[in-house]
Amino acid sequence: MEIKEINVRYSQLAETECCLSCGGALNYAVAQPGEVCVDLGSGRGTDAIRMAEAVGEDGFVYGLDISDGMLQTARKNAEKLDVKNVSFIRSTLEKLELPDKVANLVISNCTLNHASNKQAVWHEIHRILKKGGRFVISDIYAVEPIAEEYKNDPVAVAECWAGAVTREEYMKHLVNAGFSEVEIIEESTPYAKGKALVASFTIASKRSLKCNCSN
Ligand SMILES: C[S@@+](CC[C@H](N)C(=O)[O-])C[C@H]1O[C@@H](n2cnc3c(N)ncnc32)[C@H](O)[C@@H]1O
Repeated sequence: MEIKEINVRYSQLAETECCLSCGGALNYAVAQPGEVCVDLGSGRGTDAIRMAEAVGEDGFVYGLDISDGMLQTARKNAEKLDVKNVSFIRSTLEKLELPDKVANLVISNCTLNHASNKQAVWHEIHRILKKGGRFVISDIYAVEPIAEEYKNDPVAVAECWAGAVTREEYMKHLVNAGFSEVEIIEESTPYAKGKALVASFTIASKRSLKCNCSN
């Protein structure tokens, strides 16, 4: 249900120029030549294409998104700029269509708040990172828990606020997925969005080199 609303909303926005980001994940991530990078919720493809230029022909970038309109625009933009080391894949956040330990870097901007099972998303981010691989993610969190009447409303979730969890819950998901020592790179003061008070932040961490995990 939520996916349908997200597809409708973001496919309508795919041909617009409006800003859909909530932080500077791309700039803080600094993709390096030869790296394999992933952008979760890649939208019109701008950040993925910029990373593809940064990683060069020895690197590769995957942009994942669920909205058909966004995927179409992103592919068109890559073609127009003749960027070949990027692929845009239709995928949900909870089950990423990528193999284990594929990425040196995962970025995302203003997307994870839409996911209905955020814990599953964080396990997936951990699964696709190589040992020692890093993520830099910009997202929003709710200053107070979102009211019951809104948090499962698919339209309000697609509007980028009702799916937000509290900062405390956010950090719990990260730790449960195996990320310790999370760095808060930037954080806004609270602001009103929809019917909630939210804040944006950009966070970063690494998959441990020593992890004994099964994947
Ligand atoms: C607010 S936009 C941000 C787009 C881009 N990151 C940017 O900064 O311009 C959120 C994007 O996440 C995608 N998205 C939302 N929920 C998703 C889900 N559950 N699975 C995959 N993609 C999703 C939307 O289609 C949309 O392109």
